[in-house]
Amino acid sequence: MNNFGESMSLRVDIVVPAYQESENIQPLVERIAGVRDQSDFDINVFIVDDNSQDGTEEAVASLGLDWVNLIVRTTDRGLSSAVLRGFEEGSGDIVLVMDADLSHPAEAIPSMVQELKEGADFVVGSRYIEGGSTDDNWGFYRWLNSQIATLLARPFVNIKDPMSGFFAMKREQFNQADELNPIGYKIGLELIVKCHCKKVVEVPIHFTDRVRGESKLTLTEQLKYVQHVRRLFLFKYAQSSEVVQFLAVGASGTLVNLAVLTLLVGLGMGDRLAIALAIMVSVCTNFLLNRRFTFSHSREGVILHQFVKYVLSVSLGLLVQYGVSVFLVETYENMHVQLASLFGIGAAMVLNFTMMKFVVFKRKFYKSS
Ligand code: GDD
Ligand code: MN
Repeated sequence: MNNFGESMSLRVDIVVPAYQESENIQPLVERIAGVRDQSDFDINVFIVDDNSQDGTEEAVASLGLDWVNLIVRTTDRGLSSAVLRGFEEGSGDIVLVMDADLSHPAEAIPSMVQELKEGADFVVGSRYIEGGSTDDNWGFYRWLNSQIATLLARPFVNIKDPMSGFFAMKREQFNQADELNPIGYKIGLELIVKCHCKKVVEVPIHFTDRVRGESKLTLTEQLKYVQHVRRLFLFKYAQSSEVVQFLAVGASGTLVNLAVLTLLVGLGMGDRLAIALAIMVSVCTNFLLNRRFTFSHSREGVILHQFVKYVLSVSLGLLVQYGVSVFLVETYENMHVQLASLFGIGAAMVLNFTMMKFVVFKRKFYKSS
């Protein structure tokens, strides 16, 4: 296998996800062929079509080129999984992804490959760095959408065009991927994070608006992006985001606790009983929120079992909370019952997080959620 030595030509696999792109196949392959003729790479193309049945198969067949392969998927659907499927088909040193609709200039491929040779982990064809441009005449809505999406990608990679669907990496780097989750259409971002790409380089491109066919990116796809970002965040900051979410849930539980407490005391209930009831109500809300958010990988578990385990594991904390609260309120006559409860809550929280992390919502596999 060629390890970027110069003796053999470098093998570049171009993966093209395609859905109803029959009219674009021939012009696309012609442009890639132009690059193939002029460079010394050994280029193979893998078009992954999701059963378009629009003449794509005929279009590829009529080219009669043995370096252009067509994979027609009939069961799976979606841009990201199509890209991953294309990666599996080839065995080249470099994997490169580009759209079928001629938006991405094949002529940029040599400089992208060059960056990888020079040590980049990941290369992106970028519209927004100097020398790049786009004739995508986006309205305000799509522009805003893109700005927000780019901002959300910021915790993962600091580049100008993280949304680009034109990118390349070494296969070796791809093989280091943690469990991939190809939801939505930002497979590039997923790969940057999960393949631990550190040096991400942008190469300027001119992005051409598609001439034939239609865009497939619907609003639903864009909404999935928010979900995708959340998952990537959990993956990247698994430990700390658990703590942050746990604290947020704890804060909401504190509010619930104090509200119930104030209400009950206001109704004339004795401190001890009011403290106990307020604790019970907030235990329930905390359980539901922690299950839904903090430890959301556990959402499929049986809720009743989890609740029993939850109550058992926090019971020690609850006793401490109740004990501290009652002790303070009865020892210091002037102390408000709410303040005493706050101290109780603080003491219990530290104890509870530890119990929960290691007992109730323990992960089976500590990978992506
Ligand atoms: N196999 C398969 N399955 N291919 C798909 C699917 C699918 O479900 N959905 C889209 N594609 C293919 C299209 O045929 C096209 O080749 C490519 O994926 C991009 O889809 P477009 O519909 O052309 O998307 P776009 O032009 O709106 O978005 C492009 O620009 C974005 C940045 O603004 C893409 O490059 C995106 O990846 C990029 O984020
Ligand atoms: Mn497009």
